[in-house]
Amino acid sequence: MRHRRFGKTDLELSEITFGAMRFVPGLHQKNDLEAGKAALEAALANGVTTIHSSYEYGTRYALGEVLAKHAGSARLQHIIKATVPDYDDDRFIPEKFRDMVETALRELHAERIDIVQHLQRGVDKGIIYDERGDPARIEAMPTVNAALRETFDKLRDEGKVGYLCTFPHTPAFAEAAIESGAFDGMVAFFNLAETEMVPFFDAMRERGMGYVTMRPYCQGLLTDKWKDPSKLPAGDPRLGPDLAHIRERFQRLQAEIGSEVDSWTSLAVKFALADPLFPSVIVGMNTVEQVETAIAAADGDYPDPAFIRRVHGINTKR
Ligand SMILES: NC(=O)c1ccc[n+]([C@@H]2O[C@H](COP(=O)([O-])OP(=O)(O)OC[C@H]3O[C@@H](n4cnc5c(N)ncnc54)[C@H](OP(=O)(O)O)[C@@H]3O)[C@@H](O)[C@H]2O)c1
Repeated sequence: MRHRRFGKTDLELSEITFGAMRFVPGLHQKNDLEAGKAALEAALANGVTTIHSSYEYGTRYALGEVLAKHAGSARLQHIIKATVPDYDDDRFIPEKFRDMVETALRELHAERIDIVQHLQRGVDKGIIYDERGDPARIEAMPTVNAALRETFDKLRDEGKVGYLCTFPHTPAFAEAAIESGAFDGMVAFFNLAETEMVPFFDAMRERGMGYVTMRPYCQGLLTDKWKDPSKLPAGDPRLGPDLAHIRERFQRLQAEIGSEVDSWTSLAVKFALADPLFPSVIVGMNTVEQVETAIAAADGDYPDPAFIRRVHGINTKR
């Protein structure tokens, strides 16, 4: 497993980050407990040292069981989500943020959370990924950031956290978050069908930020297995309307560049590592076989960053 540096910091992440949202029974999926724990063990045994988790996934119980066995051995890097203000909060609540960090340290048997991925909600759930939520969120950002930085810096002085990243939800918020100077980088979606952050890469580079990319397969849709979504079983959540634009873009990509692609599953991982801005890609892996497939793709042989711009051009073509 290769490791890459996060932005201009001295933090090294494994190119593959184990995404802990669905690997065992939890809030988002009912995957097999033993298979999921075996997947995590296989990832660790094969050099994955970076783990992304959240209190919201309901899977920390299984992470904790496995990680307890490894406590004190290999140094792991943890990325956690912190959602303050949450949907129902009208302001940043320092105690809530601190509690999310300290609870994670305990549950993960960790000494430090290397990256805190900050989500500024504070608007209705229905508009968080929508530009209708932008004005309120962007207006609140300076006040939130001042309190966030003060709390984060205290935790950093205590040795409990390393770096702060934004999960912006929308491009407009991303732009404002980058310009705010409050963040060391971004932890956000990026895959063959979600290239919305491409316009901000230069600004991020100029500021020495890093971009940990997330969900390379878009829940499995961008793989060889489901490249024809009509084969998905009726009622599969990946057929839902919220992923219609992903399915539509992927069909267009297949039509335009399909003849150049040997394996979409492999390309999905390589694409999310194809720019030096990206130290690591967060992958959801529920079985040992899925771990082996992702790790095999992270072999250092990645497309030229110009390919990212080409794909973005196809995704944004009217
Ligand atoms: N707001 C946030 O911060 C946020 C949001 C979303 C995700 N995340 C993070 O990102 C991680 C990944 O997200 P994700 O699970 O949505 O997306 P993903 O990594 O793109 O997709 C993972 C899913 O793809 C399928 N898969 C894995 N390997 C495969 C292969 N070789 N061939 C075919 N299918 C394969 C698996 O589903 P099946 O086995 O069921 O087919 C797996 O659950 C999460 O675990 C979480 O850590 C964070």
